[in-house]
Amino acid sequence: APQQLLAGKKVTITAGPTREALDPVRYLSNHSSGKMGFAIAAAAARAGAEVTLIAGPVRLATPAGVKRVDVVSTDDMLAAAEQAADDCDLFIAAAAVVDFRPAVVAAQKIKKEDGNDSDVLQLVKNPDIVATIAARSDKRPFVVGFAAETEKVTEHAESKLTRKNLDMIVANDVSDPEGGFNSDRNAVIVIDRSGQHPLPAALKTELAAELIALIAARAFAK
Ligand code: PMT
Repeated sequence: APQQLLAGKKVTITAGPTREALDPVRYLSNHSSGKMGFAIAAAAARAGAEVTLIAGPVRLATPAGVKRVDVVSTDDMLAAAEQAADDCDLFIAAAAVVDFRPAVVAAQKIKKEDGNDSDVLQLVKNPDIVATIAARSDKRPFVVGFAAETEKVTEHAESKLTRKNLDMIVANDVSDPEGGFNSDRNAVIVIDRSGQHPLPAALKTELAAELIALIAARAFAK
């Protein structure tokens, strides 16, 4: 059995995409499969944590011993995250949250015959879930974010670490065809205020165990 690095700890993890409806038949989303977040949830449970996994729409089985909360929209993921974070020691945001949603959700299917043109979509900014949790002064867990980047990966990740007031960020180069969205493998660089720690390419299941060991050491070192 692995070391019980998170025994007695309550951990919340967001995983997968969010989905924003345009009308009854269409939505905005992204290519996140949930594999990375689900692997982290499984690793945290094996490390002895009480895990709440807040999952966007994905086709994955719930890891053993994990409490799963299924959500669709960003607002629903935020509400579930706020509730779980009220009683949690560690919050890990692996979800690929949709940054903009349609300003209105059409009640009926949007028709091109109804005079709609290329300006048919008006978008508004979604709330930032991990930044909302990290901005708390009361009931604030140790907060770990991800940064999905396609260029200047560590530079952009460091600026997200600061801007969102995170304790740690996992920089993910999603332009690498071997890793990132939907792949079974991934490579990341973990960054906190003490420096950078690369975790080389591995199965997401293996990488998740290394991540949990690293996070546990930083968050709960005695
Ligand atoms: O799900 P997989 O197919 O396994 O793919 C894994 C992954 C590539 C999705 C994952 O490793 C990853 O990088 N997740 C973060 C994806 C992302 O959208 O990153 P970002 O750089 O846009 O966001 C930065 C951080 O803020 C993330 O922790 C994100 O969860 C969080 N965020 C972003 C926007 C928002 N409105 N609310 C948030 O909480």
